[in-house]
Amino acid sequence: MSTTDVRGRFISFEGTDGCGKSTQMRLLAAKLRAEGQDVLETAEPGGTRIGLQIRSILLDSTNQELSPTAEMLLYFACRAQNVDEWILPALDRGATVLSDRFTDSTLAYQGAARGLGREVVMALHQIACRGLLPGLTIYLDIDLDTSLERAHARNRLIEDKDERRMDEQAVEFHHRVRQEYLKLAEMEPGRIKVIDGRADRKTIAARIWETVHRV
Ligand SMILES: Nc1ncnc2c1ncn2[C@@H]1O[C@H](COP(=O)(O)OP(=O)(O)O)[C@@H](O)[C@H]1O
Ligand SMILES: [Mg+2]
Repeated sequence: MSTTDVRGRFISFEGTDGCGKSTQMRLLAAKLRAEGQDVLETAEPGGTRIGLQIRSILLDSTNQELSPTAEMLLYFACRAQNVDEWILPALDRGATVLSDRFTDSTLAYQGAARGLGREVVMALHQIACRGLLPGLTIYLDIDLDTSLERAHARNRLIEDKDERRMDEQAVEFHHRVRQEYLKLAEMEPGRIKVIDGRADRKTIAARIWETVHRV
């Protein structure tokens, strides 16, 4: 299935932890709603009741033995449920769907950083999402120091230490994630738009707004 089969618009936000995805998605959703648009906001992992149960396995810091393949399948299980339960119905009724992460995250984290490979990720994507890809992906690019600094500042506010598993990965892991995002953007310049995430919130929001209207 391609995005041309459905009526609505599908926009995803990508980037390393702390790059500003959640912040910018909220701002874009508010602007689109102010224009009178029907907007569905969804975040990965999670998004659905079942997805939240899977999310607790993925983010549990005591699950150190979770294998890379099992991790990838859990992300796709979350995504499959979200596609069927929320995303496709919303696109069918003509809504704009905003997703905080989608398959590009799996390509960057599991495919590249964990070394499982692009082909494996895309084969599972065809099954889990039936090939549904965003029409537009906003990749917020940020240097690793800023990314980790912001994520750690935010995590200090999170009481539950068990939710921090992904934030404690080595710097090298984050570097591989960023390099893959940049490579994906180079491969698909029509869909993936790179926006400098180091600017202030307002400047980034203006750039995203301009990109959404242009595409
Ligand atoms: N442009 C920005 N400049 C400085 N800090 C930011 C900016 N955008 C977001 N933040 C802050 O950085 C942290 C991470 O932002 P968030 O939107 O949660 O990122 P993500 O969802 O990509 O992990 C939050 O504390 C947020 O308030
Ligand atoms: Mg977030």
